[in-house]
Amino acid sequence: MQKITIRDFLKKKGKEKITMLTVYDYSMAKVLSETNIDGVLVGDSLGMNVLGFPSTLQVDMEHMIHHTRAVSRASVRQLLVVDMPFMSYEPSIEVAVKNAGLLAREGADAVKLEGGIEVFDRVREIVKSGIPVMGHIGLTPQRYLTLGGYRTIKDEGRLVEDAMALEEAGVFSIVIENTLAEIAQKITEKVSVPTICIGAGPHCDGQILVIHDLLGLGDISPYFARKYLDLKKEIRDAVEKYVADVKSGSFPSEENYKTRDS
Ligand code: KIV
Ligand code: NA
Repeated sequence: MQKITIRDFLKKKGKEKITMLTVYDYSMAKVLSETNIDGVLVGDSLGMNVLGFPSTLQVDMEHMIHHTRAVSRASVRQLLVVDMPFMSYEPSIEVAVKNAGLLAREGADAVKLEGGIEVFDRVREIVKSGIPVMGHIGLTPQRYLTLGGYRTIKDEGRLVEDAMALEEAGVFSIVIENTLAEIAQKITEKVSVPTICIGAGPHCDGQILVIHDLLGLGDISPYFARKYLDLKKEIRDAVEKYVADVKSGSFPSEENYKTRDS
């Protein structure tokens, strides 16, 4: 099947829902590449989900490059978006362009960075340099200190302005995280690029979810997530079966080993 590009994302707006999931490693990327998911995101949520950090602030370019390489080796058919980590784009336009370039060199089809009006010039210059950018507004976890925690963002005027600024800067889509459904609907109507939502209601052009939340592997399950599998329980059960089988002598069995006569 053909590689999905940003043009496919743009074409789907208002016609067909876009679906995305996070992915952090090669084996999961392989599995996801055999599904109908449209896009995968090497999210900086890998800080909590894979590396055990308390927030995304501890994630740096080295971590993102390491995981982008792993995912990239799976040659996914999906659009591969990679998060720009905290402080990889804030210091200056030059720093932002340089780091976006490093991620593109590792196989990112696009980069995502957090913010609205305040990142306008970063977004514009990255796009000008040839790298598609996905915006991210609403609850922006890299700003949880200034936001005063992880909360639902309800400032409609500001969010609409941010979305319009991002569109003008050249993003090909915008993630809207944790806001009121009415606000996300209004933004979706106002901008010509697709909105991809998480905790922002049903009126968006698409949806994104953290794969650990979908699989039941995460430490906490946000109210806007849906658990399609209790993989923690499945893993525990499988491990206990293995332990019991080894102790009882039922594993390894004949098909699992060779003898001189076999
Ligand atoms: O890092 C992440 O997982 C994200 C999405 C949930 C939007 O940025
Ligand atoms: Na992120």
